[in-house]
Amino acid sequence: MASESQAKLPPYFSIDPDQALSSLGPSTGTDGFGVIARACDAGRQDLSSRGLEESGERSLRMFSTWEITRYLIPVAKGHFRRVLKANPDLPQGRSETTAGAKWFTLDEVLKLRAFFAAEGSKAKEYLPYRPADLPAKMVAVANFKGGVGKTSTAAHLAMSAALDGYKVLVVDLDSQGSMTSIFGGQVEDEWQTVFPLLARHYAGYQRLENQRRLDRGDIPQPLDDTLSDALDVKTQDIVQKTHWPNIDIMGAQLNLYWAEFQIPVWRMQGRGWKLWDALSDVFEEDGILGEYDLVFIDTPPALGYLTINGLAAADILLVPLGASFLEFDSTGRFFDMLHSTFSSIESAENLAARALGRDEMAFQWDAVRAVVTRYDSTQQAEMAALMQAYLGPTLSPHRQDFTALIGQAGEQVQGIYEADYRNFNRETYVRGRQTFDVTYAAFKQLLIGAWRRDELAQKEAVA
Ligand SMILES: Nc1ncnc2c1ncn2[C@@H]1O[C@H](COP(=O)(O)OP(=O)(O)OP(=O)(O)O)[C@@H](O)[C@H]1O
Ligand SMILES: [Mg+2]
Repeated sequence: MASESQAKLPPYFSIDPDQALSSLGPSTGTDGFGVIARACDAGRQDLSSRGLEESGERSLRMFSTWEITRYLIPVAKGHFRRVLKANPDLPQGRSETTAGAKWFTLDEVLKLRAFFAAEGSKAKEYLPYRPADLPAKMVAVANFKGGVGKTSTAAHLAMSAALDGYKVLVVDLDSQGSMTSIFGGQVEDEWQTVFPLLARHYAGYQRLENQRRLDRGDIPQPLDDTLSDALDVKTQDIVQKTHWPNIDIMGAQLNLYWAEFQIPVWRMQGRGWKLWDALSDVFEEDGILGEYDLVFIDTPPALGYLTINGLAAADILLVPLGASFLEFDSTGRFFDMLHSTFSSIESAENLAARALGRDEMAFQWDAVRAVVTRYDSTQQAEMAALMQAYLGPTLSPHRQDFTALIGQAGEQVQGIYEADYRNFNRETYVRGRQTFDVTYAAFKQLLIGAWRRDELAQKEAVA
């Protein structure tokens, strides 16, 4: 029997070398990574097939009268029921028992909302604010620190905006593809990611350059196969539908990482190519900003070319971070990197613009906000207050609480808006949902303010 002093020894003492050797197993070579990757893939497939419909499709849960009248359409329950009864052509919902609550698909909720907006009181906000002739707003969620809640924030905002009645496009620029899995996107290779759109933008630049070369009597540079093929790709070819009727996604997968090596090569060959404009130019050419109300861009934990493209395209930039010293410190350096990256692009461009007598350029965002995520008020109040004191209005005052409801979500149910509230204690659900509703409300405040600013500027320009 072990003596008392031995029993108290911490676990890293008394490790027997021979015993350690026998449990070590053989050394690992490159093939070992392949074996591990295949094991992960098999497990992943198992997980993702659970809870799928027979067709292999993912489906969104239903919404009850309680949830609709509490969260989605601002009407009293009694009035809601009377309106449905008086209009038998409207979706009537389904119930599990004769007297049970009625449940509706999100598609049906959207139809009901449109009906209330057309027929109901004009004083009520049935449809969210969206100036008619103005383009969609693009929102990038970025921080070069990993695991700060970029994807969770972007996914939850996309879902809350969709529930609120906006039409949403989600763009995954992260080759980890987390956002793509959340929305069930199927991406075979880089041709189903943003990659060919960036290639198309570069190919368009090269075609113009070739015209100039011909005009000067120089020999044009032929486009390689990738670039010629990319010229035919439209954003709409890549965008996929999701199990949300009003959320589409442009997916990502591992091969997208290749873009980080390819883009600098193109830039070397075409010094004048404005790579940072690629995403916004392509979306504009393809009419994406008229098709959607909001575009959410999830970025990788790095300030690479893809992130720069996403940031340059964005109107609103959200930078999630936890209320901890390490995340605050690292986020400060991220802003420093943003400053030097974008100012070096501006000075190089403007040097050339001045030489050619052209207008100078400057990047501009409607709003830039840091957002505290995974907030624990019992442990982090002091740190959050310090961050607030230094960052002032740049730090959104609405902190997104840490909630167990996110961690619990499995492969089929991603986050609070996809979870069925009947699986949780009602109070836990209401609190968990509240924290993401508040994050959305803070974002919507920025969105509406930015659209309003554009709307007033447009009126002034016409007057
Ligand atoms: N409010 C929250 N409460 C609890 N857990 C959260 C919350 N937000 C995010 N998480 C968890 O934190 C982890 C990291 O979140 P997420 O993947 O969104 O970060 P990320 O910044 O996108 O990471 P990466 O840099 O790898 O892209 C995830 O496990 C997620 O479930
Ligand atoms: Mg992420």
